[in-house]
Amino acid sequence: MRARTAILISGRGSNMRSLIAAAADPTFPAEIVLVISNVECAHGLVHAAEAGIASKIIPHKPFPSREAFDAALDEALQDAEVEIVCLAGFMRILSDWFARKWEGRLLNIHPSLLPAYKGVHVHERVIAAGEKASGCTVHFVVPELDAGPIVAQASLPVEQGDTPDTLAARVLQVEHRLYPEALKMLAEGRAKLENGKTVFV
Ligand code: GRF
Repeated sequence: MRARTAILISGRGSNMRSLIAAAADPTFPAEIVLVISNVECAHGLVHAAEAGIASKIIPHKPFPSREAFDAALDEALQDAEVEIVCLAGFMRILSDWFARKWEGRLLNIHPSLLPAYKGVHVHERVIAAGEKASGCTVHFVVPELDAGPIVAQASLPVEQGDTPDTLAARVLQVEHRLYPEALKMLAEGRAKLENGKTVFV
């Protein structure tokens, strides 16, 4: 049985596309069964539809609290019998209870070599600091932002003359390779979260 996987997006959805493409191979251990967006016009939704993947729009604004929005997310995931959730450019901070409930089954991708450069405007800060290397990280989601145990990481050189846009574009290429690898490891049980640490089997 392939692991039933949902992808949460807010925008472009290029990482979502790389996960959908990887899972189009029937031997891939995860199956993408649902895409959820909190943004109605998220471009990724078009690609999800083209790929024949069920999608759901859950706008966060009408909800009275973060917890109420997360409860609606959780319900949609349960209805679809989802086992693994991948955040892919999902621009909402999740509540502690959601992160705890999905602990070990919830992944995020971040465009830096975590624990360095958590948060936003990563590439600007990497260049401003004169870093020689950057990269991307797939990690388990824990309540603290961008702080969960690392599942997979890849680095690349920062080139002379890089702008935030050129660096972002090269990092994104690497993200598209790394995220399917990390999902594969989790779905196969080769990476798991135990006592707050990633264990590789
Ligand atoms: C990626 O750079 C990802 O690392 C970050 O947000 C961006 C999402 O891009 N979390 P996309 O929507 O997957 O194209």
